[in-house]
Amino acid sequence: MEMIEKIILLGAGNVATHLGMAFQRAGYSVLQVYSRESFSAESLAGKLGCASAGRMESISQEADLYVIAVTDDAIASVAVRFPHKDKLLVHTSGTSPMDVLKAGSNRIGVLYPLQTFTKEVAVDFSTVPICLESYRSADDDRMEAFARSLSKTVVWIPSDQRRILHVAAVFACNFVNHMYAMAAGILEENELGFELLRPLIGETARKVMEGDPREMQTGPARRNNKSILEEHRKMLSANPDYCKIYTFISESIRKTYNP
Ligand SMILES: NC(=O)c1ccc[n+]([C@@H]2O[C@H](COP(=O)([O-])OP(=O)(O)OC[C@H]3O[C@@H](n4cnc5c(N)ncnc54)[C@H](OP(=O)(O)O)[C@@H]3O)[C@@H](O)[C@H]2O)c1
Repeated sequence: MEMIEKIILLGAGNVATHLGMAFQRAGYSVLQVYSRESFSAESLAGKLGCASAGRMESISQEADLYVIAVTDDAIASVAVRFPHKDKLLVHTSGTSPMDVLKAGSNRIGVLYPLQTFTKEVAVDFSTVPICLESYRSADDDRMEAFARSLSKTVVWIPSDQRRILHVAAVFACNFVNHMYAMAAGILEENELGFELLRPLIGETARKVMEGDPREMQTGPARRNNKSILEEHRKMLSANPDYCKIYTFISESIRKTYNP
């Protein structure tokens, strides 16, 4: 079996940056970075010490794997312009189906790293679950071997299940982070520091690492404490968005525990 050794990244954002570094750490050779804006491609290529490609036509055909890590709405348009139609081409999205790559190559797949990535924040890639999918079973073994060299957790998941995983991840990560951001705003407006909340955030996360989150819920809505809920809503009345979110989520919690 021909193994994956040389890789080209299409995209230069959060995921491309982390993947590029993880690939190199695992001993793979990143040949090139292509991106829509040449300065993005050059910037990541500089970080990885490889070549950049400002135009799709300059993408080398020497790689064994081509990874599209661009914003979801652009995956199809990048794929359709991809010039090497017999090369293994994957995307990294949680929700976009594998078929979005069909016009790009006859060997397509998905390598979805289930983690939150921000360019500047380091991640231990060996702990990141990698969700794989491939169109041709002939590519399965090399994709599996490649993914296993990057992470301890590798699973094969079809597109329809992967998008369910992504919805759950939006609740577990993106929404939770937005709650932190709102909490930070409320504290800042009242000259209080966010660091006071960090032990609470740590403990909340620690508890769900060990148990079922549905059994860990606390707070006024869980207790159906109407006077506190009303008091909090009054306090938030100057910010209708926060008040609406507070009311909606409190109602969801209340209904879950006090049907
Ligand atoms: N961030 C995460 O935590 C995370 C986790 C798992 C999976 N993913 C998935 O990974 C993929 C990339 O996410 P990301 O967070 O790395 O995105 P990102 O940081 O926003 O990077 C977006 C990349 O897409 C390119 N791009 C944007 N609009 C484009 C267009 N119209 N045509 C061509 N290229 C375009 C940008 O190129 P230029 O810089 O050249 O403009 C940039 O390199 C997405 O499918 C996302 O769902 C993200």
